[in-house]
Amino acid sequence: MATKLKINGTIHEVDVNPSMPLLWVLRDVLGLTGTKFGCGMALCGACTVHLDGSAMRACITPVSMVGGREITTIEGLAKPDGTLHPVQQAWVDENVPQCGYCQSGQVMSACSLLKQNPNPTDADIDAAMSGNICRCGMYQRIKKAVHRAAGDKR
Ligand code: FES
Ligand code: FES
Repeated sequence: MATKLKINGTIHEVDVNPSMPLLWVLRDVLGLTGTKFGCGMALCGACTVHLDGSAMRACITPVSMVGGREITTIEGLAKPDGTLHPVQQAWVDENVPQCGYCQSGQVMSACSLLKQNPNPTDADIDAAMSGNICRCGMYQRIKKAVHRAAGDKR
């Protein structure tokens, strides 16, 4: 069944089973592989994207639920001229990633947090991002980068 999806400002028409998780469509149908598969059970955060500006788990969200909504993936954060989103720039400046596998999900969750709370405390960051697991343990750098991104906005 054809479904229209608005992803990073572009309309895509995909002919997939309506129960297919959005993550599968992003990666396997549309080739947007910046969003990662980790657990497939909403437990790790690797698949985090934005739905109407808020973080959500693409691995458990059927594509039938997101038609007509604004979907943003990590590929849609930078400006068309390549200027990084302030959160991406903070990630670079703080040298956050180690293996990098969790990082697109971390960045998407951080963007969502800062939109709701432009000046989060450490506790706010812990609470908002506790569902984003980093096997490499880069949590302190992630926290520093969120604070840096918040500072860049002031
Ligand atoms: S892959 Fe979606 S939360 Fe782990
Ligand atoms: S940087 Fe390796 S899992 Fe997070």
